[in-house]
Amino acid sequence: MRLNGGMSELPIHVLNGPNLNTLGTRKPEIYGHTTLADVEADVRARAQSYGLEVVFEQSNWEGQLVDWIQRARTEACGIVINPAALTHYSVAIHDALEMCEMPVVEVHISNVHRREAFRHTSFVSPQATAVIAGAGVLGYELAVDVVARNLGLG
Ligand code: DQA
Repeated sequence: MRLNGGMSELPIHVLNGPNLNTLGTRKPEIYGHTTLADVEADVRARAQSYGLEVVFEQSNWEGQLVDWIQRARTEACGIVINPAALTHYSVAIHDALEMCEMPVVEVHISNVHRREAFRHTSFVSPQATAVIAGAGVLGYELAVDVVARNLGLG
């Protein structure tokens, strides 16, 4: 079911961790040539198809991401998060997500399981409704689909 026009839900919060501001120039053989601004535009369009708005954020700082996750508890209908390197060691992000009673989708552009062993551990996955890795930046749009489906919109 699609909503016709009405923006009735709270927005989806899309949160990006360290170094994702460099998307497009950072190791394009792994992360591609798409910029984070391109990702934002695609995510907004996908969310719009469900009548959902998007709050799109990126920070290189762990504490900032914790603050945004806490904010999402009352201001978001769901979270799409690429915690980047923090995925692999942040207990603080794990604990913040634990308090979120909403769909949470963890996204990785690359297939972290085909890469270095330290990327095979995620402190975020135990708190995630779904995990998408290796789909490239399309993973963000798929994550919006998952949030929408979990909200009964898909
Ligand atoms: C990443 C994978 C992480 O291991 C890495 O530290 C990133 C990006 C990804 O999207 O593939 O910064 O989360």
